[in-house]
Amino acid sequence: TTVLKVAVLGCGVVGSQVVRLLDEQAGDLAARVGRRVELAGVAVRRIDAARDVDLPDGLLTTDAAALVARDDVDLVVEVIGGIEPARTLILSALEHGKSVVTANKALLAEDGPTLFEAAEKSGRDLYYEASVAGAIPILRPLRESLAGDRVTRVLGIVNGTTNFILDKMDTQGSGFTEALEEAQDLGYAEADPTADVEGFDAAAKAAILASLAFHTRVTAADVHREGISEVSAADIASAREMGCVVKLLAICELRTDETGEEAVAVRVHPAMIPRTHPLASVREAYNAVFVESDAAGQLMFYGPGAGGAPTASAVMGDLVTVARNHVSGTRGVGESAYTDRAVLPMGET
Ligand code: HSE
Repeated sequence: TTVLKVAVLGCGVVGSQVVRLLDEQAGDLAARVGRRVELAGVAVRRIDAARDVDLPDGLLTTDAAALVARDDVDLVVEVIGGIEPARTLILSALEHGKSVVTANKALLAEDGPTLFEAAEKSGRDLYYEASVAGAIPILRPLRESLAGDRVTRVLGIVNGTTNFILDKMDTQGSGFTEALEEAQDLGYAEADPTADVEGFDAAAKAAILASLAFHTRVTAADVHREGISEVSAADIASAREMGCVVKLLAICELRTDETGEEAVAVRVHPAMIPRTHPLASVREAYNAVFVESDAAGQLMFYGPGAGGAPTASAVMGDLVTVARNHVSGTRGVGESAYTDRAVLPMGET
């Protein structure tokens, strides 16, 4: 065919922006991919819930399962989030020979290996740059650009909502609840903000980062997790007195014991960072990932880590990649697991 057809699953904060960009960038996308890329349909839970999107009649459906199985659909974008029905739909899409782009950190961190195996079996792509740190290109650099180096540590501010809350508490003396409500209004928070506040969202992203940084498989269950609900105004004030700022950090480390055996340890918890450290300057809902490796030294990746359009930017980049692979008949590898480094239980020290 001369056209690639895309099914979008979910039309919330991110999905509506993907739909908008598919339309607005249609000309450029065609030039970059070598084929026109057109919307085949948008699956939503309720027809009247599609937010602010202006779609031609007949493109909205509540039957996501039928949409991913349709013969004329080539590529599937999953931006529903959560475990089910996202997992079943992604697996079905792959089984039906579609390449998949997803932003679903929770699913990848819980059950990534199942998805990667399904992608391999189908010979299709599974890409997920948008699952960690929104618009920031970080997964591709870890998987590809740094694959010839040896990454030893990754420190990430990977949850916009909690960074926003901690920043407002630090700079404006805002209360926790007030700052959380503001983050929700801006479209940063998860549907259930407990996932942000208690560190589940950051832990999922930490598992994904560690898997790619250390070329092994880390799941959310391997990550020690502590959120920010216990961080008080007094904690923030005493950090300030010490010249520090409190950040919720994802810490992924490669440890080497006396015998030279390497193991991966991953944890998420509030941490005091000296105000002189580059991560201390990450304000509001911005994210940053600080990477240390043998040859490159220190790198920092910085940008908008949440919100509809920034996250859609990363989805669109992956969409171009999988579309190009589709056209050229090649397959990209979304994960990079080729070591069998041990993963220490709960980031044990
Ligand atoms: N709730 C997430 C955050 C959205 O605040 O960072 C991006 O994954």
